[in-house]
Amino acid sequence: MKKSTVIAMDGPAASGKSTVARLLAKKLSIPCVNTGSMYRALGGLALEKGLNLDEEANLLAEFSKVEICYGRRGLEGDYELMLNAVAADEQKLRSVEIAGAASRIARLRGIRAFLVQAQRACASAGWVVMEGRDIGTVIFPDAAYKFFVTASPMVRARRRMAENGGGTQEELERTAAAIAERDRQDAERPVAPLKQAKDAILVDTSDLTIEEVVNLLYYQVKEAVC
Ligand code: DC
Repeated sequence: MKKSTVIAMDGPAASGKSTVARLLAKKLSIPCVNTGSMYRALGGLALEKGLNLDEEANLLAEFSKVEICYGRRGLEGDYELMLNAVAADEQKLRSVEIAGAASRIARLRGIRAFLVQAQRACASAGWVVMEGRDIGTVIFPDAAYKFFVTASPMVRARRRMAENGGGTQEELERTAAAIAERDRQDAERPVAPLKQAKDAILVDTSDLTIEEVVNLLYYQVKEAVC
């Protein structure tokens, strides 16, 4: 059976998968789709509109007014998340509040179904690196390559802190607790929980540099993609 031309990258928060996915896509000259940003964009919208994050019908009524996709600014531009044809503010989407809202709405079956179409459409034009939690299990079970990227909880908390300019021991512990809580929510939800696909390759990035991880994956896929 022909496989989807997708490099699926799943894994928990702050595992390094977003950076690896972006750099790998760049090295292969193919688009990178960050499906977490899609959940964050909808979570941000829900907060902005003051919606209850547990009321699926109200959320869907609001979200259905939004066309969400990955598009390119011009022929050579990077692929970006677009909401009603306007590029999303990725920096704003990184806040802790929006991450929490994204995780809450990601538990809802209807919200996930709403995003499946947009996510599958991203691979219709050829090879793509797609990262998230359920790419290899639900969105593209037939992906040509599947990687499950992870790292120890403390390493992940340290990385998240470094991204945000460092901080105190207390902040590090708070970050580690927030990451653990989000993992729990993502792994225990009944719909599309975070889990490694049976045929995914496990990549533990705890003791590797970003460059080492990117190279490791690049040499596995380059013959098929390039
Ligand atoms: O990867 P991220 O931290 O930006 O993702 C934000 C939230 O969205 C996270 O709590 C899990 C959820 N998510 C998901 O459920 N399925 C995906 N494919 C991507 C993200």
